[in-house]
Amino acid sequence: MSNTQASKPAPSKGGGLAGMVVADSGISFVDGAEGILEYCGYDIRDLAAKSHFEEVAFLLWNGHLPTTQELESMKRQSRACRFLPPEVIAALRVLPRNAEPMAVMRTSVSMLAHYDPESEENTPIAHQHKACRLLGQISGVLAAFERIRRGEEPVKPRMDLDHAANFLWMLTGDDPDPLSAKALDQYLLLLAEHELNASTFSARVTASTESDLHSAITSAVGTLKGPLHGAAVQEAMVQFLEICTVANVEPWFRQVRAEGRRVMGMGHRVYKVRDPRAAPLMANLERMVEATGERQWFDIARTLETIAMREPYFRERNLSANVDFYSAPLLYSLGIPVDAFTCMFAMSRIVGWTAHVYEQQANNRLIRPVANFIGEHQVPWTPIEERG
Ligand code: CMC
Repeated sequence: MSNTQASKPAPSKGGGLAGMVVADSGISFVDGAEGILEYCGYDIRDLAAKSHFEEVAFLLWNGHLPTTQELESMKRQSRACRFLPPEVIAALRVLPRNAEPMAVMRTSVSMLAHYDPESEENTPIAHQHKACRLLGQISGVLAAFERIRRGEEPVKPRMDLDHAANFLWMLTGDDPDPLSAKALDQYLLLLAEHELNASTFSARVTASTESDLHSAITSAVGTLKGPLHGAAVQEAMVQFLEICTVANVEPWFRQVRAEGRRVMGMGHRVYKVRDPRAAPLMANLERMVEATGERQWFDIARTLETIAMREPYFRERNLSANVDFYSAPLLYSLGIPVDAFTCMFAMSRIVGWTAHVYEQQANNRLIRPVANFIGEHQVPWTPIEERG
């Protein structure tokens, strides 16, 4: 073997592209030190208090808040796209009932491309149509698969309901109660966009090859599926279920610390303070809890956060509640199955992904970084019989 170690560059420190700027973007702004998140310049806390998901989708796609006329036209267009092609429903029926919902989502997004009349067109107008269609279809896929795996028939979408309420309708077949619909709407708004998180970056990398929108979104869904990203919300709920009672929070936490395990729903690559989405999500959950009287998961989450924040280990590493910490009990309170939580994330983030694909393709340059090579050079080839 050659010995070229001396000429090698030093290995990169830390990796993970931490802190590296890889694109110009006007879609969202994150200040991790101050805990600020803005969509197109609007503070997320303002939007959560005053706006709603469909309006925010328009904002992220167009860069400005809609007029009444623009919003009505966008709603008409996106609501008309809620129906799934029958072939996709047929495919959902033959998938294994124990399939992971995010894997089903990944397959479905890819399959939807075959029934989209503009799937291979990369023009801005085709992109707009496809983004609108995917917004409606992704929620339909999740609701239909959930019902099919429970042995029930999918429920047809309704045109008179907003996005969140229509999803609850398709999931349950019952008129959604306004509190749940509002809570879900706010959840969708809060998770719709988050700068260059891993799945959005993935979508942009695929888009930068001038591939089609469905391919970019399929990449993003696959990336969101991982437990350090989108699936952390499921893991967070698994941990709350494992804790089970408020009295068990402290002993559970001590055990997790002793075993060196991570507390899911805490810590963030960018935020070094509490995630700005945690407070509105917590308030949202609290409203649900007050209405239903079912305090268990809210109280467990609050107690766990308080205990963790007292711990020097967490404070020294700036580990605070992230977006998943209160999303988990909120989605649970809404009756969403735990293994479908990450799909709820995708149902919201489809807006940010499609906005980023559009932005990437509007001013494209192939994303192709380089590696810091740490292997050997000029290794002499040896015949197979001489290899030990
Ligand atoms: N619990 C305990 N320790 C933690 C945690 C945690 N949740 N997160 C990070 N640490 C520790 C980690 O062990 C390391 O300690 P040391 O310096 O002693 O080795 C230090 O903090 C830095 O961790 P890191 O993994 O190098 O930090 P990162 O920026 O690469 O990771 C993270 C960020 C989100 C992957 C990580 O905080 C984590 O795994 N959190 C739990 C999973 C989670 O909630 N993910 C959702 C992220 S927000 C939504 C989304 O993006 O989808």
